[in-house]
Amino acid sequence: MKYYLFGNWKCNPVSAQEAKKLISDTAKSVKRTEKVEVAVFPPFCYLYEVVGKKKEVAVGAQNCCFKEAGAFTGEVSPRQIADLECKYVLIGHSERRKIFSETDSFVNDKTKLALACGLVPVVCVGETDEERTAGRAVEIVTGQIEAGLKDVDAKQVLVAYEPVWAIGTGKACGLAEAREISRMIKEALGSETPVLYGGSANAKNGAVYLKEAGYDGLLVGGASLKADEFAKMFEEIEGLD
Ligand code: 13P
Repeated sequence: MKYYLFGNWKCNPVSAQEAKKLISDTAKSVKRTEKVEVAVFPPFCYLYEVVGKKKEVAVGAQNCCFKEAGAFTGEVSPRQIADLECKYVLIGHSERRKIFSETDSFVNDKTKLALACGLVPVVCVGETDEERTAGRAVEIVTGQIEAGLKDVDAKQVLVAYEPVWAIGTGKACGLAEAREISRMIKEALGSETPVLYGGSANAKNGAVYLKEAGYDGLLVGGASLKADEFAKMFEEIEGLD
């Protein structure tokens, strides 16, 4: 069984000095093993600082442009990200969908281009609080998967289920709800597509999603900014059967 421990730093930290310290503390306490693939996703401006540590930690970007190059002010293309020797790219994180109005069709374009550029896309899906309360969680995630991965070989991507209401709230998803979604995603895409859980995952609850809810890994936000907590999550996952 292969597991994944991914840290999404989001728009943190605010200085290169802190980013250097975070990657060096993280790299000291985790390693990429046959069993656990560890990766961090820093802001674009720190990718250079971090790729040097890629022996211990794989590196990914948090977003990419839907085109390879050209007049797209403020964008960074998957070709450029791949050229930096990053391995992964997050696509369709709920913060991008919500704050930057990214649609499933945009997610699909970016996923196809990222693959063509040699990156491994980590496609993020998840329902809002309102959608879950209305009993529409499975329907929403199914729609995001179908549209976001249209004409994509699912064996070449990872999917991260991040219920929007669980992100940064301390209210992690219940195991039964999380299990229902991991099962649905695997039924839709096949068992070869790794499925990660994200949303208030920490050292106490993280490994339980892998043990008891059918997930292959974690996409961690806040807890990945604390190297010691991230290291504990690594140890928990390393210790799984
Ligand atoms: P938190 O772990 O801070 O809830 O964030 C999850 C996330 O959005 C990772 O992409």
